[in-house]
Amino acid sequence: MAFSSFHFVPHSLSLLSLLFLFSLLLPSTILPASTHCHPDDKKALLSIKKSLNNPNTLSSWNPTTDCCTWEHVTCDSNSNYRIMELLIYDISVNGPIPSAVGDLPYLDSLQFGWVKNLTGPIPYSLTKLPRLRFLRINNSPLSTSIPDFLGHIQSLKYLELDQNQLYGPIPASLSNLSKLRDLDLSRNKLTGSIPVSFGSFTSNLYRLALYENQLSGEIPKSLGRLLDCETFELSGNKLVGDASMLFKQNGKATFIDLSNNLLDFDLSKVRFPKNLTYLDLSRNRIRGSIPKQATKMKWKKLNLSYNQLCGKIPQGGQLQLFSAASFAHNQCLCGPPLSKCK
Ligand SMILES: *[C@@H]1O[C@H](CO)[C@@H](O)[C@H](O)[C@H]1NC(C)=O
Ligand SMILES: *[C@@H]1O[C@H](CO)[C@@H](O)[C@H](O)[C@H]1NC(C)=O
Ligand SMILES: *[C@@H]1O[C@H](CO)[C@@H](O)[C@H](O)[C@H]1NC(C)=O
Ligand SMILES: *[C@@H]1O[C@H](CO)[C@@H](O)[C@H](O)[C@H]1NC(C)=O
Repeated sequence: MAFSSFHFVPHSLSLLSLLFLFSLLLPSTILPASTHCHPDDKKALLSIKKSLNNPNTLSSWNPTTDCCTWEHVTCDSNSNYRIMELLIYDISVNGPIPSAVGDLPYLDSLQFGWVKNLTGPIPYSLTKLPRLRFLRINNSPLSTSIPDFLGHIQSLKYLELDQNQLYGPIPASLSNLSKLRDLDLSRNKLTGSIPVSFGSFTSNLYRLALYENQLSGEIPKSLGRLLDCETFELSGNKLVGDASMLFKQNGKATFIDLSNNLLDFDLSKVRFPKNLTYLDLSRNRIRGSIPKQATKMKWKKLNLSYNQLCGKIPQGGQLQLFSAASFAHNQCLCGPPLSKCK
């Protein structure tokens, strides 16, 4: 309303209303500048800006103003206005994440996303951040290995390094992160096998996302101990052998995607976790028949296509509501929604 009305009032008034509007939208630019910013934080941020080559995106990082008013950062009013969040996205830099990020000791959340031309390595100085809970470096061309020392940042709760060009093995040390809830290393070029230590996460890991890498070998039996894990996303790798350890009736799994691997086990012996609603096992070498228990499940998605399954599809529950595409291209599955058994 204020916007449309000022066309109809005398010039001086319209200017006033414009100023009033601005004071509502940008209080910090009109009101006297507060000086919450901690000088050490300002120094670290200006050093980060310089290392990133003074990108336009950080033009609000003006040394003469309060750093708590800058874009891409948040100060925590509960801890003396120290910088608690640094979110850098959508810029282009020719270099690594500046090691000065380690000089923001109150950092809770550090994110670098969609950063063009970002290079490695991941800075060791991250280990100096005792409060870092959320580390996300994603959708960037970061081509380096995942350093062991990430397993020493004991405060980490969310570690998301998805959609980069990370290569080499997954460090076994990550299982030492005693507060980790979400580990997302998907869509990289990681090789080697899933560390056996991943069965001994001391935290209540609820999401393990390792999909679309080049992981090989068997899934460690130890992963059967992750009863609290709700989401297993391991699709699009070269995993072989058994995966039945992920199916624990008393486990909390609701989402299991193992599609596009080389897994080979007998599905008849599997007992589904009670709350499992999303299951994609397509494009593997899974044998046996579909357990009768499948008719008792509340499926949102089920895809068993492109395997070596045999026998009659159990009748009942939601199974016949799926299209043939969910069961097609098996060795000898039959019955609705596929064609009649011979
Ligand atoms: C980013 O990399 C591309 C190709 O590798 C190059 O053409 C471009 O100049 C680089 N941009 C910056 C800001 O360095
Ligand atoms: C976990 O931490 C302990 C104690 O620091 C260490 O001895 C062990 O090697 C670590 N485990 C892994 C897999 O790095
Ligand atoms: C299954 O879901 C119900 C309802 O959300 C929940 O109360 C129950 O604890 C879950 N069971 C397991 C094994 O996770
Ligand atoms: C099942 O998976 C196959 C192979 O990955 C895919 O082609 C098909 O579209 C999927 N079908 C459904 C119903 O999800």
